[in-house]
Amino acid sequence: MIPTPHINVKEKGIIAETILLPGDPLRAKFIADNYLENAVQFNEVRNMLGFTGIYKGKRISVMGTGMGMPSIGIYSYELIHFYGVKNLIRIGSCGSLQENVKIRDIVIGMSSSTDSNFAQQYNLPGTYAPTASWELLKKAVDVAERKGIEVKVGNILSSDVFYGDDPESWKKWAKMGVLAVEMEAAALYMNAARAGANALCILTVSDSLVTHEATSSEERQKSFTQMMEIALELA
Ligand code: HPA
Repeated sequence: MIPTPHINVKEKGIIAETILLPGDPLRAKFIADNYLENAVQFNEVRNMLGFTGIYKGKRISVMGTGMGMPSIGIYSYELIHFYGVKNLIRIGSCGSLQENVKIRDIVIGMSSSTDSNFAQQYNLPGTYAPTASWELLKKAVDVAERKGIEVKVGNILSSDVFYGDDPESWKKWAKMGVLAVEMEAAALYMNAARAGANALCILTVSDSLVTHEATSSEERQKSFTQMMEIALELA
């Protein structure tokens, strides 16, 4: 069923086997313009820009996902099932839930807890633990070590609400050791797991629920660059 309702690509192979997935489609364009050689745009439906280009001799794609689990759920499903994408690497931002996770730090989601009901579709006789691909996770940690980039690896929270009714509810996740909150990883991990694809989520800490600090856009640039250095090596 291609083109799909949300990706206007008529042939398999135009989207690479490995794709970087920022939430913001303009971020995808920025990455294509600044990191990829010979980047060609493949999608413009809903302005969810996607590009394929070359990084260090390897084909890699980059595409926006929008915010939240329904949105990344749609794009990752179509990429995996209809375009044969095998490795999906979300790159995004998160809010810290821990004192020792500072703004501008890089967090890698080994697993993702969630307050969403996304897993309900699988009718499992219990709760499911959305987990990153071990291969991608190991590779990312190895790349970070080699480059001397410090990363914090652990459980993250994929939340359905940015403006939640209870401003204190994050503390319960923090007590369970959850490092940071974002809004997409759990759906990505579940879609990948269900289809036998590989997924990983790499995040930079843009704000802290603990200290109420937030980064300026200039400050975000350095940690963004480091996150990109790790993500691009996974191609
Ligand atoms: N909550 C949810 N998602 C986020 C946050 C946050 O505080 N910061 C960056 N992404």
